[in-house]
Amino acid sequence: MKTFDTIAELREQLDADRSAGLAVGLVPTMGYLHDGHSSLIDAAVAANDRTVVSIFVNPLQFAEGEDLDDYPRDLDADRGLCGAAGADYVFAPAVEEMYRRAVHTVVTVPGVSAPLEGVHRPTHFAGVATVCTKLFAIVGPCRAYFGAKDWQQIAVVTRMASDLSIPVEVVPCPTMREADGLAMSSRNVYLTPAERTQGPALRRALAAGIAAVEAGERDPATVEQVMRSLLAADAPDGAVEYAAAVPADTLVASGPLTGDVRLLLAVKFSKARLIDNDGVRAG
Ligand code: PAF
Repeated sequence: MKTFDTIAELREQLDADRSAGLAVGLVPTMGYLHDGHSSLIDAAVAANDRTVVSIFVNPLQFAEGEDLDDYPRDLDADRGLCGAAGADYVFAPAVEEMYRRAVHTVVTVPGVSAPLEGVHRPTHFAGVATVCTKLFAIVGPCRAYFGAKDWQQIAVVTRMASDLSIPVEVVPCPTMREADGLAMSSRNVYLTPAERTQGPALRRALAAGIAAVEAGERDPATVEQVMRSLLAADAPDGAVEYAAAVPADTLVASGPLTGDVRLLLAVKFSKARLIDNDGVRAG
């Protein structure tokens, strides 16, 4: 496995690979990798001839006061995980390599960025869309693998690639969970022991919401209340930022639930902020 820290060298390698007829898979990450990332690398390795994992804590997607400085980092361990999972290349650029001067060009994806995360982290998705546009431009034509835990992020990146005619296929992959149901996340290390025991409540709240829809409930407010009640009982130390039951395509509530519905949650604990989601069909 080779590690690159410059854009030019990675580009040269991947251009040569594609010229030799090899298909490229990209797994964009911010590092501190876990089994959820391994499953993305597995999917990339299975479908492509060369897999590159990018490891870059992107300052643009952190707002003032968020955890940019504290964000956990361990490049040696990350390289070990990438190698074990069968990745061919790691791209780990410094901030100065990715942003050589003040950033004037920012990619925004209005609409799908606005609700849910967009309300609570209004500048976040512009940072994500901008760095993913850069990664797609650096890596070139490829398949790019993203975890479904960040459901809205997938919607934003998919829309961005489509609107800008970028030859990258965005591939959503299932959320990986701990044995008790907590969705894997690099930020789970921020949970205190007491909060960690409450984390799996998000999964149970989603299951309760899905059960309500499957039992015929079509009022989004009622489904949201079902999820909030479970969180109030089982995750009392968390503040619910949103509990939403929305159309899966727009993510914006619009009357009774119908068709593909997405249930999404965000819960803020003392330092960790957990998100999770799941889908259900409202017949
Ligand atoms: O999901 C993440 O880890 C990040 O948002 C991403 C896609 C790597 C962009 O920095």
